[in-house]
Amino acid sequence: MTVLLFAILTDRALAIDWPGYTEAFDTPQLNVAAALKLAKQAPASEVRRIRWLNSNRLTLREQVETDLDALWPERVLIFQSNRGFSQGLLNSTRHAPAVAARHLTPTTAQFGCLVNFLIRPTEAALERVAPLRDALAVARARAAVTIGVHVRTGDASFDAEAGAGGAKSDDEARRGAELYEAHAFIFEYATRLGKQLTHARARPMRGDVLDSSADADRSGDAGGSAGGSAGGAGPYYVLLGDSPALRRHAAATLGEHSVLYWGNSTGGATVGVGHVARQPGDVATLQSAVGEHWLYTGCDSFVFSSHSGYPRTAAARALRDDAIHTCFHYDGPLFNSAQRSTARECSGPWSVAALGDRHAAGL
Ligand SMILES: *[C@@H]1O[C@H](CO)[C@@H](O)[C@H](O)[C@H]1NC(C)=O
Ligand SMILES: *[C@@H]1O[C@H](CO)[C@@H](O)[C@H](O)[C@H]1NC(C)=O
Repeated sequence: MTVLLFAILTDRALAIDWPGYTEAFDTPQLNVAAALKLAKQAPASEVRRIRWLNSNRLTLREQVETDLDALWPERVLIFQSNRGFSQGLLNSTRHAPAVAARHLTPTTAQFGCLVNFLIRPTEAALERVAPLRDALAVARARAAVTIGVHVRTGDASFDAEAGAGGAKSDDEARRGAELYEAHAFIFEYATRLGKQLTHARARPMRGDVLDSSADADRSGDAGGSAGGSAGGAGPYYVLLGDSPALRRHAAATLGEHSVLYWGNSTGGATVGVGHVARQPGDVATLQSAVGEHWLYTGCDSFVFSSHSGYPRTAAARALRDDAIHTCFHYDGPLFNSAQRSTARECSGPWSVAALGDRHAAGL
């Protein structure tokens, strides 16, 4: 989204060079394939490569607070990046004239608006996660609260579990139990939040949906052990993350009746997890990753690992200021040294703008 914004602010076309991505998402508003073809014809002297993988966010922010045409005079810019600051660009005084000339504001071009403008998952991607799509639709029809929990345990999970497709084994069960113990505070926070929101929702709706419909009768079995159902159905949980073992264990702990989805598909199969840099060309995993990311946005509240871009960007797409709850638990090498490395806590809700500021500050 940051590169899209650079393109808009510097009058460039946007291209996407990512093998296999067309199986997972489309860009209905832009012909990114035509732009790629042109970009590939450019002579080397007109091309600059910009590599921002895991770069320091504050340094990058400073860099792009300068004149972008002077910074990158070449016609074709090739970004390789997992860093972004769309909000910072939209807010900056340096770029304010370019932003205003294009009738953009920090609100109308906020991160979620840019995603909604640029991409749509393919039918095949959504089909991979059809059980999640269908379960969310049922929860919505019941006016039940849905909490999307995403735990990023770390890249070690990709090595230990990727491709395994969440196969059930003793090792997997042990790993799931250990990871759950380490991250239990996140699930406890999420279930407290679920009960609170369900309670708040049940009151104004009493007599409207919950008492008069047949759903009220079914609510007994929809409550579940972690649910504490307040007269209606739910709360319900969607469990995502980089570890299928943790997802499976968490689903069993929270209870079948309150978990809509943890990566389980009809017929007992589980979706795989992967990392674009570690499992390149794994189209099925890319599709389910894009599908889960898209559908996660449809939850009512988001509880997720503070350092993970995956749930953060999906939650920002919901354009909701009252629904984002971040959990600190990461003390790896990329963690902001200003943050207490032992902090294990959840807080929120954060507004999307506050979340953008925290991200820009390295939190
Ligand atoms: C952007 O502007 C808003 C509103 O003026 C402000 O609250 C926010 O802190 C700014 N964010 C950044 C990243 O400068
Ligand atoms: C997935 O698992 C949850 C929790 O165990 C269950 O409620 C749901 O029915 C399962 N979905 C499918 C498609 O099997």
